[in-house]
Amino acid sequence: MDTYAKLADKLAKAELGGGQARIDKQHEKGKLTARERVHLLLDPESFEEVGALVTHRTTDFDMQEQVFYGDGVITGYGTIQGRLVYVFAQDFTVFGGSLSETHAEKICKIMDMAVKTGAPLIGLNDSGGARIQEGVRSLGGYADIFYRNVQASGVIPQLSAIMGPCAGGAVYSPAMTDFTLMVENTSYMFVTGPNVVKTVTNETVTSEELGGASTHSTKSGVTHLTAPNDVACLHQLRRLLSYLPQNCEEKPTYLPYELGTEVRDELEGIVPDNPNVPYDMREVIAGIIDPDSFMEIHERYAENIVVGFARLAGRSIGIIANQPYSLAGVLDVDSSKKAARFTRTCDCFNVPLLVLVDVPGFLPGTDQEWSGIITNGAKLLYALSEATVPRVTVITRKAYGGAYDVMNSKHIGADFNFAWPGAEIAVMGAKGATEIIFRREITSANDPDAKLAEKEAEYAETFANPYRAAQRGFIDEVIYPRDTRRKLIRAYASLENKVTVLPKKKHGNIPL
Ligand code: HXC
Repeated sequence: MDTYAKLADKLAKAELGGGQARIDKQHEKGKLTARERVHLLLDPESFEEVGALVTHRTTDFDMQEQVFYGDGVITGYGTIQGRLVYVFAQDFTVFGGSLSETHAEKICKIMDMAVKTGAPLIGLNDSGGARIQEGVRSLGGYADIFYRNVQASGVIPQLSAIMGPCAGGAVYSPAMTDFTLMVENTSYMFVTGPNVVKTVTNETVTSEELGGASTHSTKSGVTHLTAPNDVACLHQLRRLLSYLPQNCEEKPTYLPYELGTEVRDELEGIVPDNPNVPYDMREVIAGIIDPDSFMEIHERYAENIVVGFARLAGRSIGIIANQPYSLAGVLDVDSSKKAARFTRTCDCFNVPLLVLVDVPGFLPGTDQEWSGIITNGAKLLYALSEATVPRVTVITRKAYGGAYDVMNSKHIGADFNFAWPGAEIAVMGAKGATEIIFRREITSANDPDAKLAEKEAEYAETFANPYRAAQRGFIDEVIYPRDTRRKLIRAYASLENKVTVLPKKKHGNIPL
């Protein structure tokens, strides 16, 4: 065989991974192969493979007789919307995509390249976990990856798609990246599978219930996004990346935008007159941002807060918004964690923040206190206080109590704070406040109900408005809802070159 034919033969073998029969099996499960995934993820013809001819070095269990080029992972680089990314895709057709020492080395190599070149890293996970025939060498390989995940954290965006099994310690690599996406019904993540669960806790549970996409998108919050199939998942990865910069030294890319009058009359009719009637904060978001630009993150987890990326006059922004439709938009353990994590993701990648506030306070009760609402609420307070990206707040209705402070108040470093005319900024709602401070007057009155109503109205007149806060400069401007988009576009433009110098420290100690 001449030299060129020899190379062609090797590359053809590498192309086939574990062979046609296993490829067919993968397709039968409704899954694409690693190679198909990479090609769909990246711009056409842009993929350059690195390490196609790598093989494992194991001889235990006669492994030298089972050698496949690539060793169960396809690695390399290419572009997404013309921007450089590094990618690895585990190939389930080779030893179930299990991670050997060399498989780990391949991943580590492109992780190092991604950091060196300041480009995002995307991992497509589909693996039976540690290569059982390799023992501790495989565990070491995982730890080499974990270590790099942490070193790269906050330097380059790291995105993980779970497109098949991801079990045992393997779950900790995606967990340390910025975003985890899962494909519905064909992927799962858990530290121990159903069999171990049954043995240890005697619970009977399916893989899907224990760690499927629906579980992790609603109950645990482990996954940020889910997709009905591989193609949709890959599309989501491409879209997600469009809101992020290449690395922490850069700003997210702008889309060209021609400024118009930017008045949005539809924003005037969303908040109901009755402060106890809920509304959908997503309507407010839609009224502010560029059409169809909202990419919601953690959509079905902690629904009392909405977070996601959007564009405002072509600029990428991160939105955190209380959701009156769910639990009246109250802050609780899960919503605080969700918003804190999103805040930090935006901050480390220079995505400006918009905080929309309609919050009655923190959720009371033993469940919340015993679950650590103090420490978890503090996460959000800490994350926002620490964020140095441009930060703008709009109070659409309620901003009560500690939640007023937490939700990007002026006091914790917000750059512009706006309120709509119906905003109520106070220690608590008028009824609760009246019952406490006028209790004696009310109980001794001839008609306590009438007295309560009178005092409630008096309190509401005094405090249930944005003007006390505006007088003190805690609110920069009380604005008509229809002008919100225009105000925000200008605010972010003015903050384009914002510089904040933080005190010298090793790192802060966010309450975990
Ligand atoms: C080596 C493996 C493998 C593994 C699967 N294969 N997992 N080879 N090491 N971990 C091989 C199978 O032998 C098979 O080879 C092929 O991959 C496909 O596997 P199937 O079982 O036929 O596929 P399927 O029925 O779809 O089941 C997939 C699976 C199952 C659920 C992932 O294979 C499985 O349970 N595997 C073991 C999972 C596991 O216990 N891993 C270790 C976890 S501990 P052939 O030649 O027949 O195609 C761990 C610790 C990490 O990962 C710690 C990090 C700190």
